[in-house]
Formats: sequence, C-alpha cells, structure tokens
Amino acid sequence: MAAREEHRNTPYNGYHAAPTPAEDAELTHVEKPSPGGEYLRRFWQPIALASEITDLPLKVRMFGEDLILFRTTNGDYGLLDKHCPHRGTSLEFGLPTQCGLRCCYHGWLFAPDGTILETPGDPPGSTLKDRLRHGAYPVRAYQGLVFGYFGPPQDIPEFPIYDSYQHPDNVMVPYSITYPCNWLQVQENVMDPAHTVFLHTRVTFAQFAADVWGELPKMDFVETPTGMIYVTSRRWGDKVWVRSNDILLPNLGQVGHVWEDGQEERHFTRVGITRWTTPIDNRTCKVIGWRHFHQEVNSRGLGKMEECGVEKVDFYGQTGFGLSYAERQRAPGDYDAIVSQRPIAIHALEHLTYCDKGVAMLRRLLRRNIRKVAAGTWAAAPPLRSDGLVPTYCHDTVLTIPPAEDDDTQVRAIGDAVTAIILGDDYHTAPDRAAQVRERLRAYQGSFLTSGR
Ligand code: FES
Ligand SMILES: [Fe+2]
Repeated sequence: MAAREEHRNTPYNGYHAAPTPAEDAELTHVEKPSPGGEYLRRFWQPIALASEITDLPLKVRMFGEDLILFRTTNGDYGLLDKHCPHRGTSLEFGLPTQCGLRCCYHGWLFAPDGTILETPGDPPGSTLKDRLRHGAYPVRAYQGLVFGYFGPPQDIPEFPIYDSYQHPDNVMVPYSITYPCNWLQVQENVMDPAHTVFLHTRVTFAQFAADVWGELPKMDFVETPTGMIYVTSRRWGDKVWVRSNDILLPNLGQVGHVWEDGQEERHFTRVGITRWTTPIDNRTCKVIGWRHFHQEVNSRGLGKMEECGVEKVDFYGQTGFGLSYAERQRAPGDYDAIVSQRPIAIHALEHLTYCDKGVAMLRRLLRRNIRKVAAGTWAAAPPLRSDGLVPTYCHDTVLTIPPAEDDDTQVRAIGDAVTAIILGDDYHTAPDRAAQVRERLRAYQGSFLTSGR
C-alpha cells in the first residue's frame, strides 16, 4: 500500500497498483447470513412476471436460494425450495395439482405453504409427512407481477400500494431485466443524476430524445418519509425544469419518463417507471417493475408497450441484447456502464466527487437500516397514507420563470421551493394531495409573474 501511495500521482504507475480490495460486504451481500440480505428480506420483493408462470413451474433464484414458483390448477401461487426433501429431485419437474405441486420422482405432494400433503410410497399410517415441512415463502400477485416475502413470517409487512399506481387511465406494463452484477450498483444508478448528462447525452448521443438532458443541473438530495429523492433543477430558455427520482428504501425506485424535454409547463407529472432491484444472489440481480403508460407520461407517443416484457423495455441501453458488442462500445447504455463496474463494485477503489452525493447518501441510509436490523432495533414504520395510498415523490415539474440576474441562485431556489411543496407536511396525507401539490406549484409560478421577481 505504501508503494501505491508513493506512486499515486506518478506517470505509468500501473505496476505499483495494490491488489484489488474486497467489496463492502455489509452493503452489497444478500446471501445468507449477510446483514444486507436480512434487511432486504423484510420487504415484499417481485420475483417474476405473472406471464412467466404457465401450467409449468418456473425455476427462480432469490437471495442465493434456488426456488420453484408455480400455480396450482386452482390458481393459487406457491414458492417452494427447489429440491424435494425426499431425495432431492428438482421441483421444476413437479406437476401442479389442484392443491399443490407433486414431485415427479416418488410423488410427494407439497402445498404452497410447505405442508407435505402426501408421501404416497409410504405405508398407510406413516406420519412422516406430519413431521416434516418443506421450505416455502408467501407469494402475492399484483398487476401482472408476482411478489414473495422472504423474511421472518411473524413480521410479514402489509403489501404497499403506492399513489403512483392510481393515475387516471394508467396502464402498468410489467417488465424485467437481469443484470449479471450486484444489486446495489444497479439501484445506485437511480440516485446518480449526473450520468444522464454524460452517459445519456454528451458522451454518446441524446439517448433520451432531448438535448436538455445534457445540461448539467443543480443537484440536491433530500430524505423523505420512505427514503430519498434527488432534485435536479435546470434552466432551459424561459423554463425551469425540476425533476426528482425517488428511492423507497431499500430497493424500490421510481423514475419519471425518459422523454421529458423541459419545453412545456408541467406540474407534478408523475411516474414513468416503478422498478425494484431484486437481489438474485451476490453477483446477480433483476430489475423488475412496470412501465406506466398514460397521456401525462407518454404525451408524444414515444413509449411502446409492446417493447416491454421479459428481458426488454422500451428505451435505450437497458439490456445486453439487441446490439452488437461493438455497437454497445460505441454508444453504451446504463446496462453497460453498470455491469462493467465489476460483478460487485469495489467502493474502496472509488473516488467519489460532488456528483456522487446521492450515491453516498443512499449507502448511508442503507447502512443505517442494515445495522438496525442486525441490532434488532429496526421496525417498519406504519406507512403514511394519502387517500389510502402511500405517498411518493417522483415528479417532473416545468415552470415558466424568466431568467434572473443571478440565475444560478434563482434556479437552485426554485428547486428548493418545488421540493418543499412536494414534501409539504401540512397536506402530505390529505386525500387530494396531488391536486394540492399542483395547485401550489401553479401559485408559486404565478408569484413570479405578479411580483416580477
Ligand atoms: S425425490 Fe421427490 S418424491 Fe422422491
Ligand atoms: Fe441511466
């Protein structure tokens, strides 16, 4: 290490590089008995698209465990340990019955909760099935996704329904993409607004359909009741565009639509993507969620429902498929930038800068909660509600406000004011929160016209 320090700033110093240090296991590892996995297990996690589960069982992997997701012929979902407790045959070759899944080898029958219903090769009166349980997890289907809960059964949380689902005419189209890397670096991308300027615009081309994405915004990061948001504020002509991505801890992210161009007024335009970064194992994860389609987030018709599904989504650079390696090298997308950070990014080798405040903050919040779970002091806060739904904070807002003499200061102040309105606590849980947010944003914009400030 001394040699490396001595040569830190000398030419051609590759020879002096120290061996690669280990990853931050506390934050990144998800397999048993990791503290990060223990934390993530306390939340409902999406496993697959409902369309992937046919009359045949589906082999899945979560938290480093191999599991079989299936539907009984009655339509109930089950999620069982992969290997039959008799002699280990994989239940991916099991046959769904009315009430469970039957192992192909000697016919043992398992209910969705792991109860062994039959061991047909045993003599009548055998009590073996009553003395054993097979590993199983609770499952819930919602809007075309199938979720599982992997934590202590006595702590099972309520299944959260977020306000972003309930937009008029909203169509939620499920999609999933496997990333051959650790979950955290994929999730951190949601809190890295600087990369949209470079990766998505200046370094390659305007991947998100508008040059305004290449304008380096004022950036801020703010804790919310459910996690954190970034706040980016940009000047574009006579408009100021304030955009926030939302992370709901630990691994849900909500993002605005990627075709926003900052040209037209918007007041609290909502979510284009709701996506979990699901931990498959320490070195694999899956983005699973929905693309939202409605007029507000697809006003120019650039979103394409038919391009969303298993291992695909309708915007540039999200998978390793579809383009050649050379094409990806010439115009890399999120997938290439993130997966190539190594199978597990090594935080000890990074040099975080001003741009990375959001990443650092996310790590801090996660570590805080991971340590609480490890110490036995973590408890899920009862969710806030606005009209029965959990309030969320992702938005795009574009206000008409002419430039001021010191416009950098003004743009930053506008970002702060818009964020204060969106997080406003006096009406945070009001049944008409979204309407109040919009009304207050319009009033705020109007104050510039009337005061001439
Ligand atoms: S291995 Fe499954 S019933 Fe024998
Ligand atoms: Fe991105």
